[in-house]
Amino acid sequence: SHDAGPYVPEHADLAALRRAAAGCRGCPLYADATQTVFGEGEPSAQVVLVGEGPGDQEDRTGRPFVGPAGRLLDQALEEAGIRREDAYVTNAVKHFKFARTAGGGRRRPQPPSAAEVTACRPWLLAELRLIEPEVVVALGAVAGRALLGSAFRVTQYRGRLLTCPPPETLGTRQAARIAEEGGETAGHIVATIHPSAVLRSDDREAMYAGMVADLRVAAQALA
Ligand code: URA
Repeated sequence: SHDAGPYVPEHADLAALRRAAAGCRGCPLYADATQTVFGEGEPSAQVVLVGEGPGDQEDRTGRPFVGPAGRLLDQALEEAGIRREDAYVTNAVKHFKFARTAGGGRRRPQPPSAAEVTACRPWLLAELRLIEPEVVVALGAVAGRALLGSAFRVTQYRGRLLTCPPPETLGTRQAARIAEEGGETAGHIVATIHPSAVLRSDDREAMYAGMVADLRVAAQALA
């Protein structure tokens, strides 16, 4: 098989999912990574934050968003009025993808492919089904596509209170349509830029302010 599906236990709680994910070989990324970086937070979390995939420090520690992007995210969340303890933090892809720099020194992060995002999606769907958050926040284009399918564009979708499509439609073209047009579900989805895009930008202040503004849309849906 070429996806995580066979590794995801049925009728599992988050703790059991996490244990099973540690042994996932649903795509080739496990081979070079140190460990699976599963989501972290309370099962009762009102908001689920979805990143792209673990970076170097996440790979070493086994925890999501603990490196530079995580520190920026923590600051932006606080400024937007979202308490980290009310949030469950996870990633579209749960193993670190990287390339060695010339000479074999640093591990340079690489964006996961569409196939890797698809392969890992069963874990994300299982997390969302268990938590049933009020708001899902997509951090960047990879998370946005993992949830709303290939039609997702950050510039088009960011900062809007969208309808969260039912889990069984996530990642399909139907998902983007439901997000825009609304549906039966109680939950919402809000997209913003990825914190690493702020760190890489020439205009960090404006990028950061834009991210906080988007996160405030999510915060309002919680209030
Ligand atoms: N970037 C991500 O997308 N996720 C992390 O956990 C860390 C950095």
